[in-house]
Amino acid sequence: MMGQKLNERLTQTGPGSDAGNVLRYYWQPAALSDELAGKRPVIPVRLLGEDLVLFRNGKGELGLVARACPHRGVDLCYGRLEDNGLRCSFHGWLFNREGQCVEQPGEPEGSTMHERIRTTAYPVVEKNGIIFAYLGPDEPPEFPNFDCFRAPDTHVFAFKGLWKCNWLQAMEVGIDPAHASFLHRFLQDEDPADGYGKQFRDKASNTDVPMTKLLRDYHRPDITVEETNYGMRLISLRHMDNDKTHVRVTNQIFPVAISIPMSREMIITQWHVPVDDEKCYWYSMFTSFGKPIDKDIMRAQRLKEHRLPDYAPIKNKENNYGYNPDEQTSETYTGMGFDINVHDQWAVESPGAIFDRRNEHLGKTDVAIIKYRRMLTAAIDNLKSDNADALPMCNASDVQTIFGPISNDTIGTRDNWREEFQTSDTARREACSDWDATL
Ligand code: FES
Ligand SMILES: [Fe+2]
Repeated sequence: MMGQKLNERLTQTGPGSDAGNVLRYYWQPAALSDELAGKRPVIPVRLLGEDLVLFRNGKGELGLVARACPHRGVDLCYGRLEDNGLRCSFHGWLFNREGQCVEQPGEPEGSTMHERIRTTAYPVVEKNGIIFAYLGPDEPPEFPNFDCFRAPDTHVFAFKGLWKCNWLQAMEVGIDPAHASFLHRFLQDEDPADGYGKQFRDKASNTDVPMTKLLRDYHRPDITVEETNYGMRLISLRHMDNDKTHVRVTNQIFPVAISIPMSREMIITQWHVPVDDEKCYWYSMFTSFGKPIDKDIMRAQRLKEHRLPDYAPIKNKENNYGYNPDEQTSETYTGMGFDINVHDQWAVESPGAIFDRRNEHLGKTDVAIIKYRRMLTAAIDNLKSDNADALPMCNASDVQTIFGPISNDTIGTRDNWREEFQTSDTARREACSDWDATL
């Protein structure tokens, strides 16, 4: 159980809030590159409770500025896109991507007033299909050498989806390895050969056992959590018959991301970034150690389940997430179809937009959630005592040395599982011939 004050402290992310200050020390996904692919690359972005406009100017450079014009407040999303920035449609003030007003065509000839007008502007960087923004103080941090950033564009596919709940609920489902045996249980196994682009549809490690069967048969994982320089490593052991042990290694990347295996070929790095305190987007980068990703298949699979332009799921609270009691009897644990994103969406949205954690009862399998909340609390306290360097990955000299992180499913024995997950991960990385995946 958590007190209401702490719950507010950890969930609120607007400007000046405690957790919001921590999140602002990191690059956060602001949009998919796909969203700027149209004829007029200007879109509204709401991020951490701030209303912004993202644009690509005539020279192809990105800008992210406050959505309200600093003259008299109109919406710059309707502005005129020019080579050097965005021009307000009300009185023609022109803002460059640094937020500097560079022209005021209606003011008297020779006026220098524009030199004193600067609107909020944030640094943006594009990486393998996601545009990241830095809303924090001082200089933005460097990017760690995670696989999703090291791999070439051909081997990374990015997508996103809107969830109507607080970001922490979304993050906490990502560090809850026990739910995969229940929420995502399929009562029948499909042919793993049909599992391209889907979570939990491959074979388990080097066996012929479908992951769906393994998760069903061994549903009491033994979970341990290790603190790391990027956040936490979660190790979930499922002890099987014949002295075998399935080991699943997943990660929390501080503060809002996770990294998990998807199949033997791909891993997923996923951010849970607040739109505001009652909505969040998941942004995923699927990274392949094998062949280049078939992005058309991956995109089509996901567009079937989402509507544009806001990437809101087509199954949602208003249509009971597609719940079908017959399907729940014979095919899936939830009765909500075969897309695991819908299961997770129901799990994070149905406790309410901001879950009142005074009503929860955490068990042994919630160990990572408990530890994560402590890490976030410690980060908040460190910022309050002016010790930003103590935040994970905030000491610039360390960041470049952070690789991976290992996200993998393997089967070993009760005694050798620890060596086994490292050996099998190394083998996968050494076999990666299109890019340097070695650690
Ligand atoms: S309100 Fe934007 S230029 Fe006047
Ligand atoms: Fe899940």
